[in-house]
Amino acid sequence: MTLRRFAVIGHRAMSKGKLPLNDLASGAGRMDVLIRALMAGLMTSHGLRKDSIVVLHLLGGPGPPRRIKFDGESLKGLHADERSIAGTIGKVIATPLPPIGHWQPITAGISHSGGNLEATLKEWKEAPTVLLDATAPRLWKAEANLQERGSISELDVNFVLSDDQPLGEITSEGIVIRSLGDQWLQGHMAIGVVHFLLDEGVELNL
Ligand SMILES: C[S@@+](CC[C@H](N)C(=O)[O-])C[C@H]1O[C@@H](n2cnc3c(N)ncnc32)[C@H](O)[C@@H]1O
Repeated sequence: MTLRRFAVIGHRAMSKGKLPLNDLASGAGRMDVLIRALMAGLMTSHGLRKDSIVVLHLLGGPGPPRRIKFDGESLKGLHADERSIAGTIGKVIATPLPPIGHWQPITAGISHSGGNLEATLKEWKEAPTVLLDATAPRLWKAEANLQERGSISELDVNFVLSDDQPLGEITSEGIVIRSLGDQWLQGHMAIGVVHFLLDEGVELNL
C-alpha cells in the first residue's frame, strides 16, 4: 500500500495545557483549522483512509512544539465531529511532552512526540515531499489526463500544508513546491484535492 502523509503546521496552535473547547478558533490558536485538515486527511464519507497519515504540528506553545500523529491504518473511534476530535487533542496536550522522535502511543493510531516540521521531514526522508503553495508550478504533469488515468502511483508521497499563515522558507532535501491552482483554498479543501488527484491516478509533477 502506498502512503499519503500530510504534515499540517499550526503556527499558533496550543501545544500544552487545557485546550479551550469553546474557543478553538481563537484561544486555542486556530485548532479548528487543524481539526478540519485532520478530518479531510483521514476521512471518507463513511470511513477512514487506511493509506493516510496526518501529523499535526502544534507550534503555538506554551513551551516547545508537539506533534500529534494520526495513522489511518490503525486508527479507531475517530468521528467526523470537530468537538470530539478537539477533546482527543485536549487529552494529548494535557500529557507530558515526549522527547523529539519518541512517538508515545495515546490510543490506537494516535501518538505524540516533541519536534517540529524539520523532525518530521527527517523521518519522512525516504519519500518525496511536496510543499503545497498556490504560487508554485502545478502538482500534476501538464499532459496529465483525467479521462485516461495513469497507473495508480507506487510512490509514498508527503505533503506539507500551513494554517492561515505562510509556511516560510524550508530547506530540506527532496522537496518540491507545487500548486493545486492559482486560487488559495482552505487547507482542508487542498487536502481533498490531493486525495482526488491520487485516487484518480493523475500523474504527478514531482
Ligand atoms: C488557508 S491556506 C494558507 C494561505 C495563506 N495565506 C498563505 O499565504 O500560506 C492553507 C494551506 O493550504 C494549502 N493551499 C491552499 N490553497 C492551495 C493551492 N491553491 N495550491 C497549493 N496549496 C494550497 C497551502 O499549503 C496553504 O498553506
